[in-house]
Amino acid sequence: MPPLTDRHAAASQTLQAVGQSHVLTFYDELDDTQRDQLLSQIEGIDWPEVGRLIESYVLNTPPLNLPADIQPAPSYPQQPTPKLEGKYREARSLGEKLIRGGSVAAFTVAGGQGTRLGWDAPKGTFPATPVTARPLFGVLADYINKAQQKFGCTIPWYVMTSPVNHQPTVDFFKENDTFGLDPKNVTHFPQAMMPAIGLHGAQRGKALLAGKDSLALSPNGHGGSLKALHTSGAIADMKSRGVTQISYTQIDNPTVHVIDPLFIGLHALDSAQMSSKMVPKTGPEEKVGNFCTADGKMTVIEYTDFLKLPDKLAYQINDDGTLRFRAGSIAIHIIQVDFVEALNTSPQGFALPFHRAEKKVPCIDLNTGEPVSPDNAGGNSGGKAVKFETFVFDALPLCDNSILYETDRVEEFAPIKNADAPGEVDCPATSKQLQTQRAARWLETHNVTIPRDADGQVNAKIEISPLTAIEPDDLVDADLPKEIKPSESVNL
Ligand code: UTP
Repeated sequence: MPPLTDRHAAASQTLQAVGQSHVLTFYDELDDTQRDQLLSQIEGIDWPEVGRLIESYVLNTPPLNLPADIQPAPSYPQQPTPKLEGKYREARSLGEKLIRGGSVAAFTVAGGQGTRLGWDAPKGTFPATPVTARPLFGVLADYINKAQQKFGCTIPWYVMTSPVNHQPTVDFFKENDTFGLDPKNVTHFPQAMMPAIGLHGAQRGKALLAGKDSLALSPNGHGGSLKALHTSGAIADMKSRGVTQISYTQIDNPTVHVIDPLFIGLHALDSAQMSSKMVPKTGPEEKVGNFCTADGKMTVIEYTDFLKLPDKLAYQINDDGTLRFRAGSIAIHIIQVDFVEALNTSPQGFALPFHRAEKKVPCIDLNTGEPVSPDNAGGNSGGKAVKFETFVFDALPLCDNSILYETDRVEEFAPIKNADAPGEVDCPATSKQLQTQRAARWLETHNVTIPRDADGQVNAKIEISPLTAIEPDDLVDADLPKEIKPSESVNL
């Protein structure tokens, strides 16, 4: 490592070129350890890129660059039509063969900050299930454990963290004995960070400082996983284990099918590089990305103001009354290992587009060095900063082939995004209801009587551990009650 004076000179030059010299305002007040920390952060950032982003997304409003031709993306139905029955059988059997042969890894992105939930620890540590309050990491680990038993194989698990939550995540796995998995098959690696940029007042267009010795950094979005998988050595590790497919899921969905043979098989049969699951949207304005075919390529068009599916498309209705653009994104993908490797080793490199989000960011005043409340971060007019994130689904248009498979909300989409509040959606309470609803549905296929209210809601709390069943058929061997009583809490 060069001496601090040389690093300081290089950093000054880089920052000056993009109008960010203020980052070193307090450098002279710092001790050597603090200087090293600040310089390391500066050195880890692509400043010319940050400069371009500030110019186009903070100081100016980017043009709305929607593709010219936007069509609904075709999808495989949840249940096969008679014509597809043979293909689904073949796909399920190919998927199982790939899993049994050790070709499939589980990958969870858990580097997010979870600001909406407001849980003061990595989101994966959040108690998520309706009866035993099993943490999200534990639920996913149990799924992997069961899938390993069921298919008689090893399923390596890669967990992406961020520099902020990496150590607490690793510690949590240690405290919980890796939830019964072999630690040799569980890998954690952090993603990269991006500086937050002030939006108002004196800090407009300036990288914010969290302290005199540190930038206000945040993780660079789940799209950062496609680079971090490579730079961390995870792809190399997968290849050495013979893994060819990555089953990508998020940390915040306790009903996700972490390893799904049918989905894996459909993706592999169609030689897709990256595939996705979707659920039908509840309405034209539901806050989920929209799967479309845009200029001939599978694409997700978001619901944010900056790059939004135009209302005239979002509200289009088919003859049968369904939404024409009905495919909502739930962030479940299968990704070919070779595809990730090719992106990272292509001579031109690859870059996913950055998306801009306005958030409150705690920081210090650049003149006084005093903390600025997040409610006033950036000056006197509102206190928001801009964060830049890339999204993993922006790799879809880079694929030659990509399939979309429809699934059912109750079956596998019970996200925990927001804190509980009356009428809130996608929060712990709604997730627990959905988990109970799915468990009830599975039990009813085995003739267990479920107490339901007049409106069909389940009047009980039911948890089925993934260690017991990851699909309804697994319950065949379980010791099931004949009936569940109203208001009962049942853990199977
Ligand atoms: P969200 O977009 O819901 O963000 O992440 P979040 O950070 O968890 O929550 P908020 O927006 O601050 O409330 C969806 C998934 O992507 C992961 C999250 O951990 C979650 O599993 N993610 C998100 C990352 O791994 N890295 C990121 O930079 C952002």
